Amino acid sequence: MTDILAPTEVDGPAAPPAKRLFIKTYGCQMNVYDSERMADVLRPLGYAPTDTPEGADFVILNTCHIREKAAEKVYSELGKLRLMKLDKAAAGGGAMTIAVAGCVAQAEGEEIMRRQPAVDIVVGPQAYHQLPELLTRTARARGERIGADFAPNEKFDAMPAMRGVDGPTAFLTVQEGCDKFCSFCVVPYTRGAEWSRPVGDVLAEARGLAAQGVRELTLLGQNVNAYDGLGEGGGVWTLARLARALAEIPGIDRIRYTTSHPNDMSDDLIEAHRELDALMPYLHLPVQSGSDRILRAMNRKHGRGKYIDLIGRIRDARPDIAISGDFIVGFPGETERDFEDTLSLVRDIGYASAFTFMYSPRPGTPAASMGTQVPPEVALARLHALQALIVKQQLAFNVAQAGKTLNVLFEKPGRNGRQAIGRSPYLQSVHVEDADHLIGQIVPVRIEHGQQNSLKGRLLGA
Ligand code: SAH
Ligand code: SF4
Ligand code: F3S
Repeated sequence: MTDILAPTEVDGPAAPPAKRLFIKTYGCQMNVYDSERMADVLRPLGYAPTDTPEGADFVILNTCHIREKAAEKVYSELGKLRLMKLDKAAAGGGAMTIAVAGCVAQAEGEEIMRRQPAVDIVVGPQAYHQLPELLTRTARARGERIGADFAPNEKFDAMPAMRGVDGPTAFLTVQEGCDKFCSFCVVPYTRGAEWSRPVGDVLAEARGLAAQGVRELTLLGQNVNAYDGLGEGGGVWTLARLARALAEIPGIDRIRYTTSHPNDMSDDLIEAHRELDALMPYLHLPVQSGSDRILRAMNRKHGRGKYIDLIGRIRDARPDIAISGDFIVGFPGETERDFEDTLSLVRDIGYASAFTFMYSPRPGTPAASMGTQVPPEVALARLHALQALIVKQQLAFNVAQAGKTLNVLFEKPGRNGRQAIGRSPYLQSVHVEDADHLIGQIVPVRIEHGQQNSLKGRLLGA
């Protein structure tokens, strides 16, 4: 991110010293996007990002409530921050303002205020555009809790149009919230109802990013393929139509989107994967379980057969598409047989990557009060077995790239020499020697070697 407040050589009154802003981000890509936008909102107030919380003037924890561990981490982090805040004041370094943002702030804001008096501000995911105002209020008294009782459009409308950009790829939130109410999940409660940004706003933000050198957009939403934003001439646009319009913007060569729900995978989106070159052949399509019984208890509203059929149709449209997913093991009532169904589904589909989670009961969700919780040691054994299978599939997928030529978007320098690291169309990290002059460009690379988490390649002619 560019530091616009860095001292310059020009004459005139010296710029005030930048105030140091430290943001720690937990959870999903939506939170990563929100953290970037918080920095954008605070930049005009003289806040510049820093890499450590020590000595920072403003510390924001952008939190995640999805599993118990994620939520509990926040309290231990706050304990450490409290000491830093005291140290800073004792050393005459002035105040350190502490804010808790994100999904834990939304779900248990009052508890945060009660458990950790060092916290000055609690702000939910739909209200962080109010941070400047909250900061002036905390200068007088300890801030009150601001929740998500706002429509997301207020937040987007209130934010500066200009975004800080960090490299040739960018996240772009197009949809927020979830109406699906899977029985294990807190997201519908922390992020509110499904809502799509209007097409014009999305296109304007994308044009601004392209003008700053962004080549690849990842469209974000808790249910991004349910996108139904209002078009510029009226009428509602689907995600497929939005992707086609974004691909027309000069400079935007790659489009990805995440996360999708199987029930919103419409025919026109599948068609877009067939026709639209800019739409990358990688799809994160969580299924959570391979057992129809468990899928029903999870309130997923689709069965195993429907998911398999859907993946088949997507592969017909785009045969090389890489599929990734999310799985939960140890959901209440999951038997060995149900778990076997998950393993067999994974074998049938063949994943390029996947996230695996042990079920974590979340307060207020229906699954938390189901009477048939799986013992943790059983869930852990299943987690290991599933992970072993996924690791094997991921390695096989990466190894199979050897000998191919893939277009790589170079994102950043590597660790040694003139190495550069980029991404393949399938989202794999690709390491290439003598390529540091190509950052920001899409270049064909001969893949020499596939490993567990990355590929090695060389430039054509090298
Ligand atoms: N909207 C997305 C992602 C939601 S959260 C979707 O529907 O796919 C990301 C993942 O966290 C979920 O896909 C699920 O696998 C996992 N997850 C959600 N709640 C969980 C819980 N209570 N315990 C364990 N994993 C959970
Ligand atoms: Fe959670 Fe289900 Fe909504 Fe995904 S679709 S955010 S898992 S409730
Ligand atoms: Fe976590 Fe909230 Fe994202 S609960 S996964 S940060 S939507």
